[in-house]
Amino acid sequence: MKNGKFITLGIETSCDETAAAITADGRQLLSNAINSQIDIHTEFGGVVPEIASRKHLENINSTIDKALKDADVDIEDVDLIGVTYGPGLVGALIIGVAAAKSIAYACDIPLVGVNHMHGHIAAAYLEHPDLEPPFMALVVSGGHTNIVNVPAYNMCEKLGETRDDAAGEAFDKIARVIGLGYPGGPKIDRAAREGNKEAVAFKRVYLEPDSFDFSFSGLKTQALNYLNSERQSGRKINVSDIAASFQEAVVEVVADKAIAAAVKYNQNRLVMAGGVASNTRLRELIALKAAKHDIEVLKPSSILCTDNGAMIATAAYYAYMDGDRAGFDLEADPALQF
Ligand code: KG4
Ligand code: ZN
Repeated sequence: MKNGKFITLGIETSCDETAAAITADGRQLLSNAINSQIDIHTEFGGVVPEIASRKHLENINSTIDKALKDADVDIEDVDLIGVTYGPGLVGALIIGVAAAKSIAYACDIPLVGVNHMHGHIAAAYLEHPDLEPPFMALVVSGGHTNIVNVPAYNMCEKLGETRDDAAGEAFDKIARVIGLGYPGGPKIDRAAREGNKEAVAFKRVYLEPDSFDFSFSGLKTQALNYLNSERQSGRKINVSDIAASFQEAVVEVVADKAIAAAVKYNQNRLVMAGGVASNTRLRELIALKAAKHDIEVLKPSSILCTDNGAMIATAAYYAYMDGDRAGFDLEADPALQF
């Protein structure tokens, strides 16, 4: 405890950010240290799992120290450690889990394992101090595209998921083939602002009526085929137009389904989470569609949308208050489900 407040240390190493953060009383952010490996992986056009693990190992201790120092908190003040234990890259997750277990053991601090996807949703509690469940959540990241009903703290009911590629993965892939590089999502977002979203008629895949699932692999193939045939016929590719048209085909379906889920479940709030939630056009479209149904849209700032330790600390706090505890047998679970 510090100044009468419950202090949580959150640790996140599921992909390419080594991150640690401190919260007070669950949702007051005291520090948010993020050591991003993006520059290193950019050279290879994507995250290289072995390099990610190595970099997490090199940076984990200094990142945790920075989180404590920035928050002006000593390890003795920490009441709870929350750590991402899945889903993610196994070698990357292991580093965070091992660090969390070591500190918990050495300093006798309770430990909670956090589902990375629950963490993304919990990011909204930090940005919106009055937000309480129930609400609908849309989690769109490099690995996941989910619509989730959140009836209570520490409860997530997955209503829909992608059956193949995640939205961010589709963005990353198309960005690579049109020469925008990695990470593709923000680059497509930027290029699309200069482009015509009606330039190429990419398909919108809604699957069965009432389904909240997604499928982006067909759209990805359509885009790849289009690019091949344009190149073969010697036509010059307009990167901005393709970015805008492809982005529109992805975000229109995502926005429609998220709003449809909120309407069906009578939720008047929609929380957006995950890296792709910072997409400008997705935010714009959801705001437009939500206004028609009197749905309030809550969007964490970009720094809380992408992977961070703060979201893990907040999710851990509510899990702990709900009775969750992890033992020293906590293990990384790369395929952990919602
Ligand atoms: O949540 P996140 O940081 O990591 C996980 O996948 O868990 O999400 C990263 C994904 C990447 O695919 C990246 O290209 C995408 O989010 N992304 C975006 C934007 N910013 C990040 N996609 C579209 N528009 C953006 N502005
Ligand atoms: Zn993530």
